[in-house]
Amino acid sequence: MESTLAELEKSSLEEIAKASTIEELEAIRVRVAGRKGGALAEISKGMGKLVPEERARIGKLLNQAKDSVERAIEAKKKLIDNEALAKRLDSEWLDLTLPASGVKPGSLHPLTQIRYELEDLFRSMGFAVLDGPEVEDEYHNFDALNIPSDHPARDMQDTFWLDGGFLLRTHTSPVQVRGMEHYPPPLRMIAPGRVFRNESVDASHEHTFYQLEGMMIDRDVSVGHLIYFMQTLLAAVFRREVKVRLRPGFFPFVEPGFELDIGCLICNGAGCAVCKHSGWVELLPCGLVNPNVLRMSRIDPDKWSGFAFGLGLTRLVMMRYAINDIRLLQSGDLRFLNQF
Ligand code: DAH
Repeated sequence: MESTLAELEKSSLEEIAKASTIEELEAIRVRVAGRKGGALAEISKGMGKLVPEERARIGKLLNQAKDSVERAIEAKKKLIDNEALAKRLDSEWLDLTLPASGVKPGSLHPLTQIRYELEDLFRSMGFAVLDGPEVEDEYHNFDALNIPSDHPARDMQDTFWLDGGFLLRTHTSPVQVRGMEHYPPPLRMIAPGRVFRNESVDASHEHTFYQLEGMMIDRDVSVGHLIYFMQTLLAAVFRREVKVRLRPGFFPFVEPGFELDIGCLICNGAGCAVCKHSGWVELLPCGLVNPNVLRMSRIDPDKWSGFAFGLGLTRLVMMRYAINDIRLLQSGDLRFLNQF
């Protein structure tokens, strides 16, 4: 019995040493140390025939053998577990110090960049930045700006009309009116925004483009103030000297009205599609606010006066970055946008 036991223990330990999976070990455990039908249990069945002293001795040996087999199984299980873990750590290894694969964060559209710059500039000079609706009513887009329904100026702007007397605003000037309605003078405001014209599209015309409206109302505002602010604006945008010329211009909401042109920066005055081969680009129509406009918004023109301007933001962007086709700006073409 003793030798059978020693034999069994030895062969079991060898099997355990060879086993490579948890399942194999479990099978060995059941076969050797299982309570029912295990080899050790079978051996113990023969113990009844032994004399008491022998029984005690063999019983002890049995327990020792059982112990040693079970301990060997546990130790081997741990080893297998550790090996599996090590393997996983090896294969799932991650180097946190590696640089991330380049995610390009994108950039602001050049129109947005210039808009932000101008908003900062005008805020620093005490102007509020106002917003207005893109779907306007006739009153704010035309009447309140001294453009009556039979006035030829309404034809100057080919309008997208909507139902019920509404329209897509043809300029940002209606925000002047909304500003005057909301804030009593003195008033300094700008209003950047999108405007719409029913025009055929080419390199220098779009049906949708951007303007930046400005207005200042105070005591004794003169053309001198107007020129000062326009020069400040242009110096900030171009950061270099640009040729400017002032021509009389007609807009029903200003009197006198001017066209401020800048020398074309695309062709440096030689003539190109953007400046329609004139060497000059209309950039900044402006003037002193027509007293009728003040009156309609319940501001007394005997006490207050003001200037206004309507900067062509889209054109300004084109001049600053020498973009020769207005259609690029709304093309959504990443090859174009990635340059900014
Ligand atoms: N609203 C005019 C347009 O889009 C531009 C304009 C001209 C705005 C003169 C003004 C201004 O504020 O004083 O054609």
